This record gives sequence, C-alpha cells and structure tokens, in this order.
Amino acid sequence: MKISRAVNIEDLRIAAKRALPRMVFDYIDGGADDEITLRKNTERLRAHELIWDCLVDVTKIDTRTKVMGSELALPFVLSPTALQRMFHVDGEKAAAAAAGKAGIAYGLSTLGTTTVEDVAKATPGPKWYQIYVWKDHGLVREILARAKAAGFTGAVLTVDLPVAGHRERDTRNQFSIPPSMKPYIVWQAIQKPRWLYRTLTSPKMVPANFPGAAEGDPRSISQQVAAQYDQSVTWKDAAWMIDAWGGPFAIKGVAHADDARRALDIGASCVWVSNHGGRQLETCPATIDVLPEIVDAVGGRGEIVFDSGVRRGTDIVKALALGATAVAVGRAYLYGLAAGGEAGVSRAIQILADDVRRTMALIGAKDIASIARRHVRMR
Ligand code: FNR
Ligand code: LAC
Repeated sequence: MKISRAVNIEDLRIAAKRALPRMVFDYIDGGADDEITLRKNTERLRAHELIWDCLVDVTKIDTRTKVMGSELALPFVLSPTALQRMFHVDGEKAAAAAAGKAGIAYGLSTLGTTTVEDVAKATPGPKWYQIYVWKDHGLVREILARAKAAGFTGAVLTVDLPVAGHRERDTRNQFSIPPSMKPYIVWQAIQKPRWLYRTLTSPKMVPANFPGAAEGDPRSISQQVAAQYDQSVTWKDAAWMIDAWGGPFAIKGVAHADDARRALDIGASCVWVSNHGGRQLETCPATIDVLPEIVDAVGGRGEIVFDSGVRRGTDIVKALALGATAVAVGRAYLYGLAAGGEAGVSRAIQILADDVRRTMALIGAKDIASIARRHVRMR
C-alpha cells in the first residue's frame, strides 16, 4: 500500500508488517507476557466516551500547546524508542525530521542508533533526551552535557524498566540485538529482501550515544546494555540527574499518585504517565485509568505527559480532557517509519493531527485550553 493511502494507524501497521522481517515487526508490535496490558491500554481508551458542546464557532481550530518548555504545533510528541535504524535505515534522522516539519518534539532514546549531534542536524524543532542510567554516572553527566550542547532542551528519565519485560514474541523469534546469523533468523530476513538489502548496504547499527560507540565497541548492543545498565537507580539518583540537567525534566513510567507527588517533590517538572506501551509489567492498569488520580495528585504543580495505547486522535483528546498537558505516541509513528521512512512518520503524524483537529471541532473545542473534563466520561 502507498503510504499516502493509509487512512489510519492500523493501515500503517499492516504496511510495517509487510516491510519488516517478523522478528523486527514483533519487537515493535509486541508486549509483555500475554499482552493483556498492551491490549488494555487501547481498549480502555476506546471505552471512554466523548461528549460535545454544540453550536460553538469552530471555524478556527488552534492545536498549539506548550510542554517541557517546548512550543508544539500539535498536542502530541514522538516518544523515545530504541533502535530506529533497525526499523528503517534512515532511523532516528527520518523520525526527527518528520517531527521537526510538523512542529512537534522528538524524543531520542538512550538506545538510539543515531548520535545526538546528527539528530540535531535532522530537526531544528524541540528535542528531548531520554535517559536509561549507566553504572558510571560520570558518563551519564557527559551524555547529558553533549545532548544539551547539541540543542536538546528536555530530559526524560525512564523508570519503568529496571529489567526488561518478558516479551515472549522476541524469545520465540530468537530476536537479539543485533540479529544473529542463525538459520531461523536468516530465513526471516530473506523474506523481506528490500529491508535486508538496505540493512546490509548501510553502515552498521550501533548504540550511537553509548560510551565507546565512536571507537567502534566490538560488543553487541545487548552486551553493551547488560554491561552498562544500572538496576540500582533510586529517587536519590533521579534527584541528582534533575540537578545535573538544570532544565525541563520528566520522570517517565509513573502510574501511581504517590510516585507522581514524589517526582515533583524532588524537582521534576513533568510526570510522564506511561506503562511503556504494555511492554514491561504485565497486568498493570491501563494508563488512561490511572490518569485522573495522577492529575489530582499533581494538582497543577507540574506538567503531565500521557502515553501507552494511543492510535487515534480521539485517544489524544480524551487524555487531554482528563488533564494531560500533552500526549506521546510510540508504535503509531514506528509503524510509519518502518513502512516508509520519513514520509511514513509524516503520514502517521498527519493522520493523528487531522484526527485531533476534527475531534476538537466535533466536541466544540477551538483550542487546547477549551478541551475540558466534561468532554469525556467513563461508562
Ligand atoms: C519503546 N519505549 C521506550 N521508552 C523509553 O523510554 N526508551 C526506549 O528506548 C524505548 N524503546 C521502545 C521501543 C519500542 C519498539 C517501543 C514500541 C516502545 C516506550 C515508548 O517510549 C512509549 O512509552 C510507548 O511506546 C507508548 O506506547 P504506544 O504508544 O506504543 O502504545
Ligand atoms: C523497549 C526498551 C528498549 O521497550 O525500552 O524495547
């Protein structure tokens, strides 16, 4: 299917499935264990109902908003996700460029496969750096300084991944990073010759911002993660990182009111409500169901970014109506990236943007501030 003909995110998902070897598609698409939380995130969003105000002048719809010190043309951002060059050779550069052109923020993952400097070249727009903490905190300080120098203005500390969730699709597919040369893997890859050709003829995929990446660390990405990743991170470490960054700072992966309060108490400016898109703790609540209690706990003391399960503009408007400052999307744009590089990400953003604009007109909200609690209800 031509990217321009995709009318919704599901169309892009199907196109991504066609473009990618099974193990790569499943890594994006899958979740933990029985994928109960993965499904629940979207189902619970859909179960909320939208209510409209009638006879409102909606000739001009203003979708602009501000979060993490960044001006956004639309009330959503591209969530940080790992290994984008595996999904399409243009990887992070393509996604960042599409975000920049749409006037929204791009989140770069610690496990990104493009340097902070190259991402900065790809987009003049707002950029946030996502942190997984390394054992050597000096190195964390170094990458934060590099990100800042490259023009990243927000930092996002992800806290729902002390260990990786149990992704059964990945185990069955013998997925590893980078993919091994086992016959089963080769068999999956040769069924997608276009992906294989592009991947084999482009520079090797590396964790571009890891210490040692520039010198060509010979270890696999998984080995580097295992060697560097710090599982002992606590609130104390989060506090020094907020201090080290000295700018807009989000704690991502909060799903409880007490943790939201604590995040603000130690100086975070933003609480990022997320369960990692159902990839981590299985059978935890859908994020839309915990959003109201977190909004109450935050009580206007900080900002709230919401993610997990968003596939439609109506999902975005519902989260805003319940009190989120902005929404983040993960798979929605990764499907586009896999299906068509930058053009695919732009299509995903466009689909969601059109959805948001239409939904705002239909509920009678001419700007983001007019989207209110009364516009959504749970039955
Ligand atoms: C992620 N996510 C993620 N989060 C993060 O903080 N650092 C990371 O490296 C990654 N990597 C990653 C890879 C892939 C393939 C996916 C799908 C997700 C989580 C991401 O930022 C976001 O929280 C979820 O994707 C939100 O759920 P949806 O929008 O995918 O349903
Ligand atoms: C994931 C990690 C890398 O969700 O954040 O795959």
